[in-house]
Amino acid sequence: MAFNFRMILAATVAVVVPAAAAMAQTAPAPGAATPAAAGDAAAGERVFAQCRACHQMGPTARAGVGPPLNGLFGRKAGSFPNFNYSPAYRSLDKTWDEANFRVYIRNPREVTPGTRMVFSGLRDETQITNLIAYLKQFNAEGQRTQ
Ligand code: HEC
Repeated sequence: MAFNFRMILAATVAVVVPAAAAMAQTAPAPGAATPAAAGDAAAGERVFAQCRACHQMGPTARAGVGPPLNGLFGRKAGSFPNFNYSPAYRSLDKTWDEANFRVYIRNPREVTPGTRMVFSGLRDETQITNLIAYLKQFNAEGQRTQ
């Protein structure tokens, strides 16, 4: 059952991601310090150490305290199959992209009141940019594509 949901999710992401990528090229995220600032994925992996207690990445990633974050950008918020999201997440109608992730990760509880994600937030823009570069490496199946 879970496998089937995953297949549907993967198919959805496959359709949404190219569109999001095309948009990203024409419209840099508002507030981005420098358009097309390329993050350092290796540095981003070190930032991800703060997330790893709750979030897994890669082909064997499973739900832990939080859902896996493979294929995050282009994925509908609160949609990882069989993960028990908080009511705050279940009623969300947003698709993750770099711009809204940037806002979210600065202060998750302010952006999504009632979330079960207990994380105070990242303040450093460079760290956030690097974290995004790291997360973007993983497709929905957890394979590194970059
Ligand atoms: C203490 C555990 C914990 C830590 C640390 C944590 N998270 Fe979370 N995260 C969660 C939980 C739990 C949820 C689900 C929230 C809910 O249901 O309200 C979540 C949800 C998310 C989501 C939404 C996922 C989706 O499927 O829509 C993103 C994105 C996210 N976290 C990113 C991060 C990042 C990036 C970090 C590190 C900088 C981090 N989280 C640190 C527990 C954590």
